[in-house]
Amino acid sequence: MNEKTTVDNRQSTILVIHGPNLNMLGRREPAWYGSATLEEIDTEIKQTAEDCGMVAETFQSNHEGALVEKIQDAMVGYDAVIINPAAYTHTSVAIRDALLMLDIPIIEVHLSNIYQRDAFRHKSFIADVATARLAGFGKEGYMMAVRAVAEMIRKESRD
Ligand code: DQA
Repeated sequence: MNEKTTVDNRQSTILVIHGPNLNMLGRREPAWYGSATLEEIDTEIKQTAEDCGMVAETFQSNHEGALVEKIQDAMVGYDAVIINPAAYTHTSVAIRDALLMLDIPIIEVHLSNIYQRDAFRHKSFIADVATARLAGFGKEGYMMAVRAVAEMIRKESRD
């Protein structure tokens, strides 16, 4: 069995990381973030990944260091990271530096369209580190990211 066959046989695993205050979804500014709870969104993410033949693990923290450590975990055994760093998008060099260590697709997701909002939200410390970004699609942005990542991984294993 060559290396490529081994890689192809392992089920693709993606890590979905949610930053601070996203544990409050459902109760937090629904006009921007919608009415679904994080638990409902995570369930849908896992189902969408399963429908695409992948496994999704989800993680949320309100702490920058915990998010950094989770990103470091993704250096081994994961095929892609989907991340909504929430407020840390606009402030965190530490999260940017952690993402720079990854050699897999990174998709930046925001529920709201950050460009329709306060000027300080227009700056993302991870925009140029991310492979792609979705913003303004609400929770559907996560599902779109999962499907896009599945296609990226499929394409990479064909090449
Ligand atoms: C957010 C946008 C950020 O500006 C904000 O701080 C968040 C959520 C979004 O998903 O739209 O917490 O990342």
